[in-house]
Amino acid sequence: MKPGRLLKGSRVPETITITDDRTGKTVTVPINDGTFSSAALRELDKNLFIYDPAFLSTAACRSSITYLDGDAGILRYRGYPIEQLAEHSTYLEVAYLLLYGELPDEGQLKQWTYDVTHHTFIHENMRKRFVDGFHYDAHPMGMFVSALAALGTFYPESKDIFDPDSRHKQILRLIAKTPTLAAMCYRFSVGLPFFLPDNELSYPANFLTMMWKVGEYEVHPTIERAMDVLFILHADHEQNCGTTAMRVVGSSQADPYSAAASAASALYGPLHGGANEAVVRMLTDIGSFDNVDAFIEDVKSGKGKLMGFGHRVYKNYDPRARIVKQTADAVFEVTGKNPLLDIALKLEEVALSDPYFVDRKLYPNVDFYSGLIYQALGFPVDMFTVLFAIPRTVGWLAHWDEMLNDSDQKISRPRQWYTGAGERDYVKLGDR
Ligand code: CMC
Repeated sequence: MKPGRLLKGSRVPETITITDDRTGKTVTVPINDGTFSSAALRELDKNLFIYDPAFLSTAACRSSITYLDGDAGILRYRGYPIEQLAEHSTYLEVAYLLLYGELPDEGQLKQWTYDVTHHTFIHENMRKRFVDGFHYDAHPMGMFVSALAALGTFYPESKDIFDPDSRHKQILRLIAKTPTLAAMCYRFSVGLPFFLPDNELSYPANFLTMMWKVGEYEVHPTIERAMDVLFILHADHEQNCGTTAMRVVGSSQADPYSAAASAASALYGPLHGGANEAVVRMLTDIGSFDNVDAFIEDVKSGKGKLMGFGHRVYKNYDPRARIVKQTADAVFEVTGKNPLLDIALKLEEVALSDPYFVDRKLYPNVDFYSGLIYQALGFPVDMFTVLFAIPRTVGWLAHWDEMLNDSDQKISRPRQWYTGAGERDYVKLGDR
């Protein structure tokens, strides 16, 4: 075992020493950036495992994509603070940054934008045969999850995940086609004819046009920018549940469409991307400013959760929530204020001064205000998680690509702590 380095100016070694008291055996392991390799435990006893349900203390990979400090409320993509990207960048530029590690120069951005824009169409059978087969009231996110997996069947070469050209092509396709799929799922659910992508428009404007165009339609620049900012904020969030699903499924060398469908399924859950939908339903149920105190008391007594609050990693204000709140102000200037906003503001004020939430470090997360914007823009609540999935696709793909290039990675296959019955003999049906 390599000896650990010494901290600068100190005699304290950056190592951890573990003793197995059953045998007296000891190992000393280096600590790198707050992480040590659990492989050292195998040196003590090859049948010794870490019990860590929900991965609370496990780093399952090395990653150089997104940095998150939950105590300080910091989020950076490839080193760039989320606040700067939200102010100055575009979703497509951020997508390039997440995938390739650097901001593109002018020529690279032009080519990247052209390439994404020219992969937005989807095969006619996807709409005519596949999407048209859903029941009339199918949930758009359920349709979206299935459509992602189905899309892969049109690209058999996507199975060749170790061909760099094919990999790049599938990444382009997925980023380009998710808005088209999303709009198609929505228009099917309301019985509107599908509207084809318009290559003259920006990424968010094209999506909004495919969603809303009936006769004359032009995207308001404030709304176009707000959509782009929301896409930037949702693009990646390191090893969240959906991204972990992408990595786990991708580790079996499944094609990226199947892996992305798994990631989207994870996102569908109300504790993950489904929370934005749950927030608006919760605010609607609360119904009035006057019911806020009683609702908070119910939450504190264990009757449900304050949706849009709390986070596994953030024990401070989610920096994305702050930007979403500012974006909401700009959107409401155009659309008029969402009447649920007052209830949300009051909930936030009460919760942030209540010891129950303060002691547990529960702050608003990205989903607390995003649903209010989506609703003001006219999106039905069951489209909200789809709106999260569109930009998160690039995060999933960046992690998938990183994993395939990481020589430490193998097929994901955790161990278990078996707590079932010991060996026993089969009892015939008549003798039980
Ligand atoms: N309302 C009321 N109490 C809460 C909440 C909440 N939203 N979140 C956590 N708690 C309590 C929880 O009951 C527990 O209390 P106690 O210690 O008395 O048992 C304590 O806070 C710690 O919670 P936890 O469940 O151990 O925390 P976790 O890290 O396992 O869960 C979470 C994180 C996001 C699942 C959870 O905070 C939650 O369910 N929040 C509401 C759903 C939500 O807004 N999800 C969106 C997350 S951000 C977007 C994304 O990543 O997808």
